[in-house]
Amino acid sequence: MADRYQQFTKTPLGKFVVPKLGLPNPATLRRYRPGQPALEGPALLGAAPGGRLEKTVRAQLTGAGIEVLSAPADRHAALVFDATGITDPAGLREVYRFFHPVIRKVGASGRVVVLGTPPELAEGRERIAQRALEGFVRSVGKELKRGATAQLVYVAEGAEEAAESTLRFLLSAKSAFVDGQVIRVGTHVKTAPAPENWDKPLDGKVALVTGASRGIGEAIAETLARDGAHVVALDIPAQGGDLSTVANRIGGSALQLDITAADAPAKLAEYLVERHGGVDVVVHNAGITRDKTLGNLTESGWDAVLAVNLSAQLAVNDKLLGDQVLRENGRIIGVSSIAGIAGNVGQTNYATSKAGVIGMVNVGTPQLAEYGGTINAVAPGFIETKMTAAVPLFIREAGRRLSSLGQGGLPVDVAETIAWYASPASAAVNGNLVRVCGQALLGA
Ligand SMILES: NC(=O)c1ccc[n+]([C@@H]2O[C@H](COP(=O)([O-])OP(=O)(O)OC[C@H]3O[C@@H](n4cnc5c(N)ncnc54)[C@H](O)[C@@H]3O)[C@@H](O)[C@H]2O)c1
Repeated sequence: MADRYQQFTKTPLGKFVVPKLGLPNPATLRRYRPGQPALEGPALLGAAPGGRLEKTVRAQLTGAGIEVLSAPADRHAALVFDATGITDPAGLREVYRFFHPVIRKVGASGRVVVLGTPPELAEGRERIAQRALEGFVRSVGKELKRGATAQLVYVAEGAEEAAESTLRFLLSAKSAFVDGQVIRVGTHVKTAPAPENWDKPLDGKVALVTGASRGIGEAIAETLARDGAHVVALDIPAQGGDLSTVANRIGGSALQLDITAADAPAKLAEYLVERHGGVDVVVHNAGITRDKTLGNLTESGWDAVLAVNLSAQLAVNDKLLGDQVLRENGRIIGVSSIAGIAGNVGQTNYATSKAGVIGMVNVGTPQLAEYGGTINAVAPGFIETKMTAAVPLFIREAGRRLSSLGQGGLPVDVAETIAWYASPASAAVNGNLVRVCGQALLGA
């Protein structure tokens, strides 16, 4: 679903005019289709001397059916570099040496992944060198063209095996709109079971998705169902018709409930226990906006947004955790926004609530680790939905183009990131906030 400008760039006139005027020329991103190979071509794998991940990563990539090269070829679908051996800023030259000769040989929708050690778990010069990798990767993301992306994955010592789900996600077309991100694996839990079937990691699991009748929530419900989960799709009664359509299409169940109602957490817990004996994945997607500049914003406009986007989610978490409705190895996933990171005119209420979701992840991380589960959030950037179609044209165009990928994302891009968090194989991915924003300049 390319936007109108993007469609124009593909016409004969667009192909002539766009480069002449130096206009943005967004690539058609490769997106996931079941049965697609893990990577459309070989991956070049390198390591700084003393790296602790290269061997494991080589085995994981090969196991995923990816051809792994040790010497450069003409084109690479991915460049993967183990930088864990870099213990001093002088050693950062290894990153330059590996990438400089091959960075122009990354294919369309190609992938660059740098692996490091979480700086906060290192000391002295090693900590400085590892932290420095962030500037490198974020810049590479901005330089890459044709829909290629770059990410940094910090893997804690001992969690080498547990990084596989993250590596698979980032290399695959599922991460099409994730760019310039920093992910931490193994800072709390160091092990993760490999699923019996990587295509159905959620087989036998029950997933709750709020706000599932349309937009991003609908895509999340579809994607989790595709991965094998039974999805409980929740939305307000006024959305009942669309909600049933979604639930029926994916073989899930529909639950009409306003999550801000005082008795909603209790009703939800009762429903999940009675019908399913509990829940494995909770996705807090329901969200609203009531945009007004602060001086014009009514108290009810403030309260409504804080209630749906934050307070109701905390109440649901407390109930599901307190009554152990969320099963062992459970997942809580929040939907923040880049507005919660960068702030936005007319969105003091919304940005406060979405920054609060990040706080919810921070506070929940040790709590969920103790519980044997994880809590993470996505922060979508400009996603093509009815909500963003209503944004004035100029702001909409700026939202789309002011990013490394030069286009808006699709609801499925957010959904795929959530599915990666939800997978049992991501048990070591806890406390992360990943932006699904095509490396938007806003709040970068
Ligand atoms: N579209 C974007 O570009 C974008 C960007 C950043 C973040 N987000 C976030 O992603 C999420 C989904 O966004 P969307 O664009 O699909 O929005 P949407 O308005 O299309 O869908 C939100 C859904 O939540 C439901 N909902 C609202 N209040 C509820 C309540 N009290 N109880 C139960 N359900 C309720 C709505 O009925 C609706 O179906 C939201 O949290 C939004 O803030 C969206």
